[in-house]
Amino acid sequence: MGKIILTGDRPTGKLHLGHYVGSLRRRVELQNSGEFEKIFIMIADAQALTDNADNPEKVRQNILEVALDYLSCGLDPAQSTLFIQSQVPELCELAFYYMNLVTVARLQRNPTVKAEIQLRGFAEGNEEDGSQRQGIPVGFFTYPISQASDITAFKATTVPVGEDQEPMIEQTREIVHKFNSVYGETLVMPEILLPDNAACLRLPGTDGKAKMSKSLGNCIYLSDSADEVKKKVMGMYTDPDHLRVEDPGKVEGNTVFTYLDAFSRPEHFQRYLPDYASLDELKAHYRRGGLGDVKV
Ligand code: TRP
Repeated sequence: MGKIILTGDRPTGKLHLGHYVGSLRRRVELQNSGEFEKIFIMIADAQALTDNADNPEKVRQNILEVALDYLSCGLDPAQSTLFIQSQVPELCELAFYYMNLVTVARLQRNPTVKAEIQLRGFAEGNEEDGSQRQGIPVGFFTYPISQASDITAFKATTVPVGEDQEPMIEQTREIVHKFNSVYGETLVMPEILLPDNAACLRLPGTDGKAKMSKSLGNCIYLSDSADEVKKKVMGMYTDPDHLRVEDPGKVEGNTVFTYLDAFSRPEHFQRYLPDYASLDELKAHYRRGGLGDVKV
């Protein structure tokens, strides 16, 4: 049997360069490698609702945005099946049965769920202190189980995702193991496929913060116009100690160079910056000082 990919995203916003570097670029490469018999890319709208139940319109609107972002970066419907999670109701059905194979304690230990509970302010509600915290929605708490349905329903062998999804795949593997040992060999054991380039695991935001994120307002969106991209790039965080063009500058931790590491290829220099043969030369000039009057 050939290898099968399943992966996807929650449609809670337009996709940005962080998504591109962290997952989309790889997906397109995998698609074009011809190594996979089937590829399923899922827009996880039902999962997005688990922490957006009060804003279904946002999820609905972003289904199309995410689909367009997929197409724009090279996912090809002739090679990959793009689909919407909620349109496959059997996924919910399967999750219902998997729920019997997972303990509450096991879900509570899931590091990604834990981190997201903190991030969303879902900490246990306490009505006595009059706090507004609403507690953890059960659907949200159990989404790792629904993710196991997504993966196993399509007999996925390979799940290309970012490192934050590792606990979900681990949880899926446990469910597969349990299911198969109780009911007989049925489900395919999936493998996680992490991004291969360590430097590209996470792209910082344009403000130099560790992560590109909608709430930080430091994103370059795939759907941004060329002018918007240019404006964002020109306003990017560089080396805060580099005050005058002639001063030496630091390349390490300099967001512009992190982006260049992620995106530039030798042939780009000939085309856009013919004064430099390579990124190393550009870096050397920045370190020396005096780089800044380059026309772009
Ligand atoms: N949890 C993933 C995310 O936050 C989306 C997702 C849902 C997914 N089901 C999946 C990813 C199955 C891989 C496999 O982006």
